Amino acid sequence: MNKLSIVGAGVVGEAAAQIIAREEFCRELMLIDVQGELAQGKALDVWQAAVESGSDTRVYGGPNAELLQNSDLVVITAGVPRKPGQSRQDVLSINLPILDSIMLDINRHAPAATVLVVSNPVDVLTYRAWCLSGLGRNRVFGQAGVLDTARMKCFIAEETGFSARDITALVLGGHGDSMVPLMRYCTVGSVPLSHFLSNQQIERIVERTRQGGGEILGLKKVGSACDAPGVAIAEMVDAIANGRNRILPTVAILEGEYGRTGIAMGVPCVLAEDGVARVIELSLDAQEQAMFDRSADQVVRDIAEMNAL
Ligand code: LAC
Repeated sequence: MNKLSIVGAGVVGEAAAQIIAREEFCRELMLIDVQGELAQGKALDVWQAAVESGSDTRVYGGPNAELLQNSDLVVITAGVPRKPGQSRQDVLSINLPILDSIMLDINRHAPAATVLVVSNPVDVLTYRAWCLSGLGRNRVFGQAGVLDTARMKCFIAEETGFSARDITALVLGGHGDSMVPLMRYCTVGSVPLSHFLSNQQIERIVERTRQGGGEILGLKKVGSACDAPGVAIAEMVDAIANGRNRILPTVAILEGEYGRTGIAMGVPCVLAEDGVARVIELSLDAQEQAMFDRSADQVVRDIAEMNAL
């Protein structure tokens, strides 16, 4: 990939930038933030760290939207994080105008760029970004499930005592308390999780995964998670920059899959050079479908709330 821009040089944008630069996922990495010279300062730090790791990715930063020019991919992390006790939807009224103005900038300066939305509420803002972009749904999508899945792997590793390396997990649905961990698709060394854990233990893992972001927020108090979200962004960027055809949970625009249209939410997708190459529609059992519908209905309500603003 030639040029990647990250809009929002807060802790999440910076965490992602460090990995992207170190791993040389692009030739040029641009950090953009409205706060004066913040992005420029962080860019120098990230660049110097990358060079120490043997990377030739050149990192730049600044406050101006023109810096987006010629971006192949734009990652949006700008906005305020929620405070302890708030839901992700509670920051919508602040983050929506921020997202809207960034999409205007992208349309003006980098209309050909693929867009990865990370700012919360991510399902709603991904849908908004797609509506404003005029691009196909393959080019505008969001990050949530890679992070939620990583969290679930931690909790499965802890509960089973097995290496996290052997664990595969899958979380669908909205990035909120109604997210849908699909335990039927969770395995340790290819063995279904139900072989090792009781329903009660699995339920504990599901609940902790749903509250995973809030747990960190409640403990840190002054900011939400940043390191694991940074890695999740880098994983999706790698899949695109290196055209890997990876199957990753992605906040995607649905066009009839899972019985839904006019909504963005977490589903397994094939991520390739041009973005979302395919949405994978799993056949859900009645209980899973009910959980998915509950989550989708919540996202529909959240999108309606956005449209009313
Ligand atoms: C979280 C926030 C960043 O889940 O959405 O930690």
